[in-house]
Amino acid sequence: MTSSPLPDFRPVSYSRVTLTELMIPSYANFGGKIHGGILLSLMDKVAYAAASKHAGTYCVTVSVDGVNFLQPVEVGELVSLLASVNYVGRTSLLVGIKVIAEDVRTGTVKHTNTSYFTMVAKDDDGKPTPVPGLQLDTPEDARRFLEAIKRREFNAEHRREFDNALTSLAVEHQLPLLEKERCRITYRT
Ligand SMILES: CC(C)(COP(=O)(O)OP(=O)(O)OC[C@H]1O[C@@H](n2cnc3c(N)ncnc32)[C@H](O)[C@@H]1OP(=O)(O)O)[C@@H](O)C(=O)NCCC(=O)NCCS
Repeated sequence: MTSSPLPDFRPVSYSRVTLTELMIPSYANFGGKIHGGILLSLMDKVAYAAASKHAGTYCVTVSVDGVNFLQPVEVGELVSLLASVNYVGRTSLLVGIKVIAEDVRTGTVKHTNTSYFTMVAKDDDGKPTPVPGLQLDTPEDARRFLEAIKRREFNAEHRREFDNALTSLAVEHQLPLLEKERCRITYRT
């Protein structure tokens, strides 16, 4: 079967996906709450669905940004993951994922986190391949695209600063810092 050529642009709405799953007892940790890893796996799945739909190809996860679980998710809650492509580069796509959990008995909905997955489209030989541009049909689409540009710039800057800080990190000069922390040094120099 031959695939049809990709369009130059695809609207955000083309690849918007929602994944809903019931939190069953086998997803719980020893404290009775849902394992973070279960949610991460669902987030990876929904990011893949949105990215590959936009790209029209297989995609891989490159990085994950902003995973903070602000509230625990309980067994019996209905978790929905709302994903959309917020930004595209040449071969990469940034998928924004909002996770909400609903208590079906009371109808209470809580927002557990919003995270960002960077995915890269791959061709049949496993090489990064260009994706269609993103058509921004609403001011919200444009705001998310701009936010993604800023997030990329901020992360690049932050990574540079962190790398610089690491190269000048000499443990013998940082001992006063360690003394303020909850650790104890047991080796001799
Ligand atoms: C991601 C990957 C394709 C990048 O390969 P590469 O040879 O560096 O390719 P390129 O330099 O052409 O980069 C491809 C795109 O990835 C982006 N990218 C690469 N590293 C990145 C990072 N750390 N964070 C965000 N984006 C990144 C580049 O900016 C580029 O985007 P663009 O085309 O939109 O400008 C490669 O590292 C890979 O396949 N990693 C494994 C991914 C995987 O298997 N994930 C599953 C989990 S195990």
